[in-house]
Amino acid sequence: MADLSGRVALVTGAARGIGQAIAVRLAEDGADVAVCDLKAEWLEETRQKVSSAGRKVRSYEVNVGDAVGVQNVVQQVLGDFGRIDILVNNAGITRDSLLLRLDEKDWDDVLNVNLKGTYLFTRAVARPMMKQRSGAIVNIASIIGEIGNAGQCNYAASKGGVIAFTKSAAKELAARGIRVNAVAPGFIQTRMTEALPEEARQKMLQMIPLARFGQPEDVANVVAFLAGDDASYVTGQVVNVCGGMVT
Ligand SMILES: NC(=O)c1ccc[n+]([C@@H]2O[C@H](COP(=O)([O-])OP(=O)(O)OC[C@H]3O[C@@H](n4cnc5c(N)ncnc54)[C@H](O)[C@@H]3O)[C@@H](O)[C@H]2O)c1
Repeated sequence: MADLSGRVALVTGAARGIGQAIAVRLAEDGADVAVCDLKAEWLEETRQKVSSAGRKVRSYEVNVGDAVGVQNVVQQVLGDFGRIDILVNNAGITRDSLLLRLDEKDWDDVLNVNLKGTYLFTRAVARPMMKQRSGAIVNIASIIGEIGNAGQCNYAASKGGVIAFTKSAAKELAARGIRVNAVAPGFIQTRMTEALPEEARQKMLQMIPLARFGQPEDVANVVAFLAGDDASYVTGQVVNVCGGMVT
């Protein structure tokens, strides 16, 4: 376990799935947690779980692709908690389609949430973190951003962008004591992957050396490590959490 006592974490897309598991894990490790999602009421379950871990928690409603909304939420969190030590850019969507049928709107929506959202939140917390001269940012990418996937040109481009953004921001912010890393999950069992047909899931399973799908907690464990002091000499890195699919 990472010792995150006294730290304040902000997690986007925390209503369910990987984001919820991250919020709960950071709280179990001692952090107070600000959670946000598209609708505040969707965060009720996460709020209760973080609260049961004995930590302070507040819910915020925001679309991560909305610059003004993001700025406002960061100001509110600073007002409510006094500081932000950890940012986890987790909110993400898929709008899968083969390239020839890939709608411009589906391209824009995916890039807007996955990549622009990561940039907007990182930019918004960078100033207060610079003043503190410390901070840890963890961006949730995907192995698809490294290896590509038919039917996911928009998603792959967004996650490849998150990886490139992570490496650049890490170099820019290192001198101010801020570390920026990415976690690239493989196939994790959440609502995002529930939609896949059984045949596709079985095919996918055969490609995973550890022979099981990942759980949200598998991702949260690595996020907690990167957010904590045990990773104090780690920045600009991408950690694959994929059961060995990508080596
Ligand atoms: N599940 C997987 O196999 C997998 C694999 C690789 C990467 N990822 C990434 O992990 C992250 C979490 O995925 P998940 O599987 O938990 O997905 P999910 O769909 O279960 O949860 C995503 C959360 O993000 C929120 N969200 C979506 N758009 C938003 C917006 N504009 N503003 C604020 N919140 C928004 C949703 O409401 C939801 O609560 C995503 O970035 C996803 O791309 C997931």
